[in-house]
Amino acid sequence: MTAMLKAVPGTNDIFAQAKEYPFREPVFRYIIQTAEEVLRGAGAQMIHTPIFEYLEVLQKGVGLTSDIVVKKEMYILEDRGGRVLGLRPEPTASIVRAYNQHGMKVWPQPVRLFTWGPIFRAERHQKGRYKQFHQVDYEALGLSDPLLDAEAIALMVRIYKTLGLKNLEVKLGSVGDPEDRTRYNLYLRELFRPHAERLSEDSRVRLEANPMRILDSKSEQDQQIVAELQVKPMLEFLGDASRSFHERVCQYLTQLGIAFTVDPSIVRGLDYYVRTAWEVHHAQIGAKSALGGGGRYDGLSEMLGGPQVPGVGFGIGIERVAIALEQEGVAIPPDPSPTLYLAPLDEAAKIEALALAEQLRPKVYVELGYTPKSPRKALEEALKKGARYVGFLGEGERARGVITLKHLESGEQTELEPLQLHSLFEGPDPK
Ligand code: HAM
Repeated sequence: MTAMLKAVPGTNDIFAQAKEYPFREPVFRYIIQTAEEVLRGAGAQMIHTPIFEYLEVLQKGVGLTSDIVVKKEMYILEDRGGRVLGLRPEPTASIVRAYNQHGMKVWPQPVRLFTWGPIFRAERHQKGRYKQFHQVDYEALGLSDPLLDAEAIALMVRIYKTLGLKNLEVKLGSVGDPEDRTRYNLYLRELFRPHAERLSEDSRVRLEANPMRILDSKSEQDQQIVAELQVKPMLEFLGDASRSFHERVCQYLTQLGIAFTVDPSIVRGLDYYVRTAWEVHHAQIGAKSALGGGGRYDGLSEMLGGPQVPGVGFGIGIERVAIALEQEGVAIPPDPSPTLYLAPLDEAAKIEALALAEQLRPKVYVELGYTPKSPRKALEEALKKGARYVGFLGEGERARGVITLKHLESGEQTELEPLQLHSLFEGPDPK
């Protein structure tokens, strides 16, 4: 006998009754719908890009020194023509690719797009970190103005707050312009090289490829070296242009009344960032506390062979937000319960019940008791489903051309002809 097949560890089925809270579909839907309302309300348009792309788009997007590439976290596939594809490890590169491919540069700028969907990273999975997870993503393209950075942060914070989250921390930094980073990297290499032997294996690779990433290494030993060496933060290496840009983002956020801390240690794991970079953390969810992150990526379009297109955006980790909602005990709006539970009492009533249900839907939320059952069993079912009414259809009802309707709260029971039933449900919400 074949053993029962299961999903890949680190991937999850999302459905209402899922055991673990972050995978309950109503929680998921609540996060996505809330984000969608906030983002549409700010004029952003929904876009869906394919979940796989030519590997080049994805690799050039995240950058050759990012963990995603260095640690081989990308799922790579080959199609039948031998073309190498990848499952998206983040959606920003795909959205910039779509912007260029569809000539959005000639639209009024900025073009503001958002999406949500699955993201794939072959990471070691644990609570809050999965191989397939989901993000809400927002991108504002075509204008290099700190106002857009401030707006993106404000929208992101508003999504969390509208969801009901309180213990948020916005950590804002700047990774400077490429030339600032060249200077900073020189400084870091000189500083760390004499200690290379003591660095973790990953950080020894980073020392040459992207030394800034040593600063957010997960290794304790690396962190100890960083502390010992009293490493100067990137912020001290900003040139005039990136410094004044950063100051303006800070000033706008203050004017908007958004609480944030300037965190010089914000590095971000993707190579495309320039200038503004931020993360939103949650105090209660421990090590995997980043609920989302974002930043500016003015050079990304050119890396993908497109024109110069500045951009700024963010990604929100849906599962992480769900964990935070559970921690804070935020009540999720309950799914509506049926107005009517319609139960056939015998075989012949099955199709009649379905026909009646179809006539009443979609105005009325009708659930069907598919298999004939006794009125007592039907009542139990209706109560379990939280229905307002239970309707019985059996031999007697058929003979009299009625259905028996019972209001579950008052216990009141009447016989109604189909027309009366329609008019009961056609008026204002029948209580
Ligand atoms: P990111 O920081 O790599 O940024 O991911 C955004 C968020 O996705 C994280 O803060 C976290 O909440 C969630 N996340 C990341 N990896 C996992 C995982 N393995 N399991 C569960 N959740 C995870 C980006 O992806 C950028 N594209 C954001 C962006 C958009 N920057 C500019 N525009």
